[in-house]
Amino acid sequence: MKKFYVTTPIYYVNDSPHIGHAYTTILADVLSRYHRGAGEDVFFLTGLDEHGQKVKQAAEKRGMSPQAHADDLAPRFLNLWKKLDIRYDDFVRTTQERHKKIVQAVLQKVHDAGDIYSGEYEGLYSVAEERFITPEEHATGQFRDVKTIKEKNYFFRMGKYQQKLIDYIQAHPDFIRPEHRRNEMLGFLKQPLEDLCISRPKSRMDWGIEIPFDKDYVTYVWFDALINYISIPGYMSDEKKFAKWWPADVHLIGKDILTTHSIYWPTMLFSLGLPLPKVIFAHGWWLTGQAKMSKSLGNVVNPLDLIEQYGVDAVRYYLMREMVLGQDANFTLESFIKCFNSDLANDYGNLLNRVSGLTAKNHGGIVPKPGALTPAEEEIKKLAETLPGQVRELVAVFKVQEAVTAVIEFVRVLNKYVETQAPWKLAKTDMEAAGRVIYTAAEGLRIATVMLEPVMPVKTATVLDVLGATDSGSVWGQLKAGTVLKTHPPLFPRIEVEKA
Ligand code: MSP
Repeated sequence: MKKFYVTTPIYYVNDSPHIGHAYTTILADVLSRYHRGAGEDVFFLTGLDEHGQKVKQAAEKRGMSPQAHADDLAPRFLNLWKKLDIRYDDFVRTTQERHKKIVQAVLQKVHDAGDIYSGEYEGLYSVAEERFITPEEHATGQFRDVKTIKEKNYFFRMGKYQQKLIDYIQAHPDFIRPEHRRNEMLGFLKQPLEDLCISRPKSRMDWGIEIPFDKDYVTYVWFDALINYISIPGYMSDEKKFAKWWPADVHLIGKDILTTHSIYWPTMLFSLGLPLPKVIFAHGWWLTGQAKMSKSLGNVVNPLDLIEQYGVDAVRYYLMREMVLGQDANFTLESFIKCFNSDLANDYGNLLNRVSGLTAKNHGGIVPKPGALTPAEEEIKKLAETLPGQVRELVAVFKVQEAVTAVIEFVRVLNKYVETQAPWKLAKTDMEAAGRVIYTAAEGLRIATVMLEPVMPVKTATVLDVLGATDSGSVWGQLKAGTVLKTHPPLFPRIEVEKA
């Protein structure tokens, strides 16, 4: 059986999650569901990054210990994932023993291999980014909370792997996606790659995993965090499980953490002698106005409010439909409502209303027989038969927005077909023809619904239930004539702009 291992970044527990965090997690969930639907064995990993200066500072502000602070915030993430219908397979917290002991084993292994050494370091440190930055980076003015720090530390011989990494990226065009991010990293690698400082003296920052060969130090939060991708699927603890899942099929990340994932992480894996993840996919940012949505800018949208008001499916749908993977997207209530009213209320919801309404009115509430198809139905059937393959191909190359668009366009074609055929008129003169149109529209709706399930698990379950087709697949003709359709409230009642 084909396997699919997908990860999200593990989120810092410095505050409640916002739409930006929710986005990556929903995206991973949608991909997971499509791959499961295609019969693959899926492992979807997400979780929390609980160590480091940022979390420590957030805890101090609240007058709590970092662990108590993390324990207090973790349920906010878990609760949101539950509300968003996220079906992850494992949830890591970096303070868990199962993760900490592997980070220590990895440090020891890399140290024994001669890839970690101690040295004096003086440099500029950005607390906001949790890493040392170069003077050139500092000059861009994009880094907040910058201090000069001089101290003894441990270093990972990252520079040693520079050429190997360049060769690897060049030989594997799909490793860093999209293309402009790959070019950005190849550009970055034109400068000499320095070794990576991977420790913090406890005297300055003690909230981290202790370095096994020096009790006065903890490891750098990124060295700790990245290892979650291998510690959880069993590296150095369950070799069978690890062999099954590693390498990951995709690490989904935001573009803000591209360097750590496509430079630090691969060189760490080189040192361990492990294969690299197949794809690192960096999506863009959700903006509000012109700025990145972030807590420190105070412009975040709380996903819980949106779910409360418009339902989880609409939120998931909007986020998948609006962002072209790889580019930034603007979050506005206006575009949310527009998308809701047009795609979900007018197109998808309306198709269900017509099918169930006309079935009730003219066919006694029972799915009529398909009858002998005319060219108009053959056309619909052909589209329905190509749709699943087309959607899966797009999803396989991370074109989720295009995949969703393809389904909703098919729904539009179905609505148009119903309008042109006017089964309400046919019902007065030719019941068989009216039945054929209703069957075709209902069966098209069913297939569109199966293809939308990964994006809208709740509403699509309702639709399949109405159609009496809960266990059906994407093959044409599975809707049974004679099925009694269930009654239902409107699927997506239009949002009145005034009220919103
Ligand atoms: N803890 C690190 C990641 C370690 S992974 C081994 C971290 N955490 S974070 O809480 O800052 O979350 C970063 C991720 O959240 C981004 O990479 C992105 O996936 C998501 N987003 C946060 N804000 C975002 C937007 N405004 N827009 C889109 N996604 C963004 O970095």
